Amino acid sequence: MKAYRASLLWFAPSRNGETARAQWEDDGLLVVGPNALGVQVVQAIGAHRDVVRLHPEVPVEHWSGRIIAPGFVDLHLHYPQTNVIGSPADGLLPWLENYTFPEEKRFEAPEYCAQAATFFIAELLRNGVTTALTFATSHTASVNALFAQAQAQRLRLVTGLCLMDRNAPAGVLNRESAQGLCDATEQSLIDTEALIQRWHGQDRLGYAITPRFVPTSSDAQLRGAGELAARYPDVWIQSHVAENKDEIAWARELFPRSRSYLATYADFGLMRQRAVYAHCIHFDDNDRALMRDTAAAAAICPTSNLFLGSGYFDYAGADRAGFQYGLASDVGGGTSFSPFHTMVAAYYVGREGHTKQGLSLAPQQLWWQHTAGAARAMGLEGVVGNLLPGCEADFVVLNPKATPLLARKTALAANLDELLFSMIVLGDDRLIEKTVISQAL
Ligand code: GUN
Ligand code: ZN
Repeated sequence: MKAYRASLLWFAPSRNGETARAQWEDDGLLVVGPNALGVQVVQAIGAHRDVVRLHPEVPVEHWSGRIIAPGFVDLHLHYPQTNVIGSPADGLLPWLENYTFPEEKRFEAPEYCAQAATFFIAELLRNGVTTALTFATSHTASVNALFAQAQAQRLRLVTGLCLMDRNAPAGVLNRESAQGLCDATEQSLIDTEALIQRWHGQDRLGYAITPRFVPTSSDAQLRGAGELAARYPDVWIQSHVAENKDEIAWARELFPRSRSYLATYADFGLMRQRAVYAHCIHFDDNDRALMRDTAAAAAICPTSNLFLGSGYFDYAGADRAGFQYGLASDVGGGTSFSPFHTMVAAYYVGREGHTKQGLSLAPQQLWWQHTAGAARAMGLEGVVGNLLPGCEADFVVLNPKATPLLARKTALAANLDELLFSMIVLGDDRLIEKTVISQAL
């Protein structure tokens, strides 16, 4: 058992679909210790004066002037796209063709995968991200390298082999060849199943069945992915949907019998709990109802959508329908690993929809969407993204005086919302003094 004394931020459990209810203790105590399986979880949280009485023997680390908060959950990003950040293009499809696919092709070399995986996980931790749902490439070596590195660091990480058996741009993608990015349909499904069996549920790792998006998969590949999703119901599903107008037109052309782009995934059995779809921008109310009724979740990627000019996630529409969502960096369409950058971009995006009703996203809402809310969207409520008793002990230590401007501004905060907003707007990796990951004892 071990205890940490600091200011504490966490969230009350969500009830009846309610969202953020931030809890705060100025002088708090967080006690962590092993559960029955020997995994370090939160044992107690609250005011120092109360919790210390219940755990008088536990050694205390005192983080004076610091804030302890849940580790961030990044609901969608691409580990092979670290080098792609900041690549200019007119929109999604030319960006994929000119920058993303050429970089992903490099992951056919296992050494390239290993160094990229090591850098990626270090960057997540430096930015306070302790759970990630991420794409790999269509090479099994890329999946194995990332899982191995995440296991070594005890990161809670979900990834999977990127399925894409057609329609990759000429010159880069070589159909049915180990040299390109396009895979062979049958083999990609065999590889997926073997990777599920090797990695899913090992330590803190999880597998995600990962069709890249509708335009790069044949009927047979989507059908096979849906069959695997039915056979392995606790495995995740991840993909992209309704991000960009040209992409949508392409998807509609390929599957004209589906009611919409999103409905194509449902038609192949790829919408259910633990299915996370990135972007979800250009939806109608039928799509929103489909998200809700299938219990799929949206990964909102505001820096990516602003960078690639894709559009604005409709928060009001999502709340009206009542489907789940959380925040995501979408590196490398996204421009930053920092959850603070993602949250402030989400604030700008949220205003786009909400200002019509005179509302904007509250700081507690934004923070929740990147921690407990994102965990709930992944089906991991009560496991990560929060510091309620029983949650795995993943947390960040924030230094609100990390920069001169942060120190000046946070000192003026008159309430919790002002403090959180100062950190959201001014924060980056410098605000994260330490990232602590739950250990196995
Ligand atoms: N759609 C299909 N692939 C991708 C990708 O790598 N990034 C984004 N932003 N959208 C996609
Ligand atoms: Zn993406």
